Amino acid sequence: MGLANSSTRYGIVTKTLHWLVVLGFLNQYVVAKIMTAIEGNEFALGFSQGSLYNWHKSIGLVILAVVVIRYTWRKTTRLPDWAKGLADWEKKLIHLYEKMLYWAMFLMPLSGYLFVESGGFGVQFFGVTRLPSFLPRNETLAWLGHTVHIITGYAIVVFLTLHIGLVIKHQIFDKDRILHRMLPFSQ
Ligand code: HEM
Ligand code: HEM
Repeated sequence: MGLANSSTRYGIVTKTLHWLVVLGFLNQYVVAKIMTAIEGNEFALGFSQGSLYNWHKSIGLVILAVVVIRYTWRKTTRLPDWAKGLADWEKKLIHLYEKMLYWAMFLMPLSGYLFVESGGFGVQFFGVTRLPSFLPRNETLAWLGHTVHIITGYAIVVFLTLHIGLVIKHQIFDKDRILHRMLPFSQ
């Protein structure tokens, strides 16, 4: 398997970036759920609320860097041809949710950053160093960041359901091995 995509399959770079973002998002949802469910003086699995917030914010910014690389890679390299067996309506749906997922991959970390910086909370990067702030304290901006973060968080669930649903449909019912196009070590 090559590094780059070919006309028939995704290469190592695209696959690695795809699954890194999946792992990152999974982490973000689980940690967000826990950190917002406990009080400031409580611990979850031995972690204080503060360190869970730090982890969520820091990993979120790492994800942003991975997404920038992923988007640049996607825009500057070829995509494989469509998987065989996709109906026209499925291609239209894929176009729509891929665009939405890319928007969401940028909007989530950027809105989170806007919220914590303009809200005056800041980012203690992996608990080691406080990142310099480039934004003024501003309640309206903080509200905007928070609102976009929450709404996009739910929108992602909708588009991911469509994405994963389509993959499952093809993998299980149409039996055309679409999942193998994105699996590591698989042709
Ligand atoms: C890909 C990246 C990210 C994802 C998928 C993500 C996801 C989420 C989700 C699902 C929530 C829970 C929202 C709710 O209460 O229903 C949340 C909350 C939160 N996120 Fe993120 N997040 C990301 C990046 C960031 C970044 C980069 C920051 C800040 C630098 C951040 C700061 C926060 C904060 C402070 C909350 C708590 C909001 C509250 O208390 O209501 N997030 N995030
Ligand atoms: C955070 C979660 C996810 C995001 C943001 C995401 C996003 C994307 C995007 C944008 C593509 C198009 C190729 C690219 O630009 O990289 C893609 C392809 C693909 N994804 Fe996901 N995905 C996620 C989760 C999953 C999961 C959980 C599965 C497995 C069920 C999956 C299976 C696939 C497959 C098989 C393809 C290749 C489809 C094809 O072109 O044949 N994805 N994904």
